[in-house]
Amino acid sequence: MDESELIITEDGSHTILFKHSNISYHSLHGAIAESTKIYIEYGLVKAFEFKNIIRIFEMGFGTGLNAYLSYIFASNNNIHIDYTCIEPYPIEEKIYSILNYPKLLNYDSEILNNLHALEFSKQLQLSEKFKFQKIKCQWEYFSTIEKYDLIYYDAFGPGHDSALWDLNSTMKLINMLNHSGILMSFCAQGQFKRNLKSAGFITEGLKGPIGKREVTRATKK
Ligand SMILES: C[S@@+](CC[C@H](N)C(=O)[O-])C[C@H]1O[C@@H](n2cnc3c(N)ncnc32)[C@H](O)[C@@H]1O
Repeated sequence: MDESELIITEDGSHTILFKHSNISYHSLHGAIAESTKIYIEYGLVKAFEFKNIIRIFEMGFGTGLNAYLSYIFASNNNIHIDYTCIEPYPIEEKIYSILNYPKLLNYDSEILNNLHALEFSKQLQLSEKFKFQKIKCQWEYFSTIEKYDLIYYDAFGPGHDSALWDLNSTMKLINMLNHSGILMSFCAQGQFKRNLKSAGFITEGLKGPIGKREVTRATKK
């Protein structure tokens, strides 16, 4: 098995890197910078233009950074978030308890710990504005009748597992969204964008965070 290690990215924030394959959870140019730009600025802020009760689905909870940033956004804005995520390979406490996101974001570390420590398939009302649940499941086996307003599609890239980015996946994703729902992904691969279009999404290529030319926003019309 590929061993992982915690490393510091260029904006000072942690990510996890698999030593042999060189695959990381975030951009090495900055984990917080990447997640903030793609999932919060392009995703959550956009969804918040239309609604202030937002149901989010995240594919790949990982370090919990996207959930943590979403929690912070909710605490600073007039918004209620109902957050569901899947993660088949949760990280261990010895790793999540030393992530430097609370320090860099100057926010309560207890919240990030609670996101990680919560039992799978239990719902937690983490604050008046933020409801949260994690499901231990691989995307391939995940099915739901729930509908969401915003999807953070944050799997490892198509080079790692192309099945997560194929037409079956994009069809499943569009069916999980409400009308005008938004999908955000760091991935701007041509085939993925064609699969999104074939499934019925309108796609936009948006300027990526530092080190990434483009990211994808897809909207269900
Ligand atoms: C690029 S990382 C992003 C993690 C997370 N969003 C973060 O900010 O740390 C991809 C995540 O997807 C998870 N993952 C890998 N294969 C998966 C699968 N088949 N279904 C669901 N999640 C998967 C990994 O364990 C990892 O946590």
